[in-house]
Amino acid sequence: NVYSDADELSYKVALEIAGTIRSHASKGQNCVLGLATGSTPTPVYRELVKMHKDGKLSFKNVVTFNLDEYYGLHQDDLQSYHKYMAVHLFDHITDMDYSNIHIPNGSISEGEVQRHCKEYEYAIKAAGGIDLQLLGLGRMGHIGFNEQGTSRDSRTHMVYLDRVTRLDAASDFFGEQHVPRRALTMGISTILSARRVLLMAFGENKADIAARSVEGPVSSQVPASFLQEHPNATVLLDTAASSGL
Ligand code: GLP
Repeated sequence: NVYSDADELSYKVALEIAGTIRSHASKGQNCVLGLATGSTPTPVYRELVKMHKDGKLSFKNVVTFNLDEYYGLHQDDLQSYHKYMAVHLFDHITDMDYSNIHIPNGSISEGEVQRHCKEYEYAIKAAGGIDLQLLGLGRMGHIGFNEQGTSRDSRTHMVYLDRVTRLDAASDFFGEQHVPRRALTMGISTILSARRVLLMAFGENKADIAARSVEGPVSSQVPASFLQEHPNATVLLDTAASSGL
């Protein structure tokens, strides 16, 4: 779906998320959201916060699982995705059970990583699986932090970040040398297990990779291309990001 305006696109996404939360609430069920970070989803969180503040959206039945976290950062670090989620969403929500928030822990020791990743997968399963997964798109086609070459079968795991990913994050970290080299991320298979997937991308610098993700061959060289095999995934682009289609 192509929109002329990124704000309109973000509003549509926020409406779908709100609708999913409400329809689960009306049946007395929890709604399990898979959440993304980066600059792309921030307007979506802004809309959700607005709906919540206006008294139109409760988060009482919401359970969240974030896609990823830098390895080696503490949750209070400015650039951590824990901090990002607090600033953009969770700090503004007054009726959420905070024990329902799950974000991979980037500050565990190496020896604990494997167990932590397994437990993350188990927690998603125990929550009933992800109802709706929000995704941004990395410039090399990554979803979460699943870089080029990641297997279709991958579940939550530790990854080494691509040079381009680290370059794109350099300004957030005040220099490429400060960007962590590793991260924890849900795998491709974890993402594909979500019942609904929304991938968003804005701007000209995503045009080439958006086209390769949507129209190119399904290949681990473009991890987002695996979404072509998902039965209920939608790609939402602004005009600039759609210019390569
Ligand atoms: C990071 C995140 C991804 C995100 C990507 C794109 O690498 N781990 O989940 O999709 O950046 O970021 P942006 O939305 O800022 O372009």
